[in-house]
Amino acid sequence: MEGIRDPQRRNVMAKPNGSKVGGLEGVVVAETALSEVDGERGRLVIGGLELEHLAPWAEVEDVASLLWDAHVPDASQKDAMRRALGRGRARAFARLESLGDALSLGDPMDSLRASLAHLPSSDTSGPDIAGAVAVFAAARVRCSAGLPPVAPDPDAPHAADYLHMLQGSPVSPAAARGLDTYLVTVADHGMNASTFAARVVTSTGSDEVSAVVAAVGALKGPLHGGAPGPVLDMLDAIGASDRAAAWLENELSSGRRIMGMGHRIYRVRDPRAEVLEQAARRLESEGRASPRLALARSVERTAEELLARRHPERALRANVEFYTAVLLEAIGIPRTAFSPTFAVGRVIGWHAHIEEQRRTGRLIRPSSIYVGPTPTATL
Ligand code: COA
Repeated sequence: MEGIRDPQRRNVMAKPNGSKVGGLEGVVVAETALSEVDGERGRLVIGGLELEHLAPWAEVEDVASLLWDAHVPDASQKDAMRRALGRGRARAFARLESLGDALSLGDPMDSLRASLAHLPSSDTSGPDIAGAVAVFAAARVRCSAGLPPVAPDPDAPHAADYLHMLQGSPVSPAAARGLDTYLVTVADHGMNASTFAARVVTSTGSDEVSAVVAAVGALKGPLHGGAPGPVLDMLDAIGASDRAAAWLENELSSGRRIMGMGHRIYRVRDPRAEVLEQAARRLESEGRASPRLALARSVERTAEELLARRHPERALRANVEFYTAVLLEAIGIPRTAFSPTFAVGRVIGWHAHIEEQRRTGRLIRPSSIYVGPTPTATL
């Protein structure tokens, strides 16, 4: 039918010079004091600190203080944050009974979205929403394995308690440390799609639960937070380094994308990939085998070479998801829980952006260009 719009064409339109428009690429939609992504230099600043300086020591409680209260906490402030997050987890655990069938939904991100949607819209504190994401994500893993949920320990650090609720067994300090590094590393990342979704919802005057539900929906997609499970599937399928080139070449020739490679902003290797690779290496040296690491490094190098040949105009290097897969597997998190675990970290940033949007933002309402049929006087 002539004149009816093709939905595929709406996604990415071509400018006359061949470059792409759409996707709000390069468009500034907000000022933020929370994080800065420098794609040319491969630099990420979270709450005023460079990721490479923050990640080696920080725990979830530190990055929550940085993003919610704008300072590095002293010992008593960190303790207060730990207890506040603990209370948030305890309150969320008390709500498990009221989640209907949300925990048994097939897709873990659908389950997280549906669980969070049950929260009353008055639940707007950072610890409450962060506690709910951790408790619901862990309970879903238990439920899908036919196991009862594990109650949170409100006095425990957030990362270690999430791991305990998920695994139901004592957590090693090395695994908890690795998870803290991961959650801190992904806590915030400029105007990424899920953060933007949360800010759009907030800009209408809506509530925080609605904003976080929207953010979870955006995070689910494989172009955003849904890639690490598929990265592990890819490493499984490749199996050994000498099979990488043929496997990857076949994917590319079939028109599929290599998961964990490429980024909208970074034109160099994603700095988070480096931090997470180091964390996986640390776990390996502490005796928690990370059998994937050597294979992952080799697959990354091969993918980079093949992508450079196909796209000499555009650097497509490893992004955060590549080593997320390796690190979370080494920590002992099942791959179906990778994306929900991303949400456990990113909700810290979502809450900070929601608050910032409320304080400083306006209604976000972009424009579009109409390319539909010209209206006629008669049907
Ligand atoms: N594998 C193969 N080709 C890729 C690719 C990948 N991982 N990433 C980008 N490309 C190609 C695109 O197909 C496109 O080619 P074309 O111009 O011939 O159509 C070109 O590179 C530019 O890609 P574009 O879609 O404009 O990039 P983007 O900025 O919209 O996308 C990502 C960024 C992250 C969505 C994209 O790199 C991707 O899909 N990566 C894989 C999924 C992933 O790892 N997601 C997690 C992101 S943190």
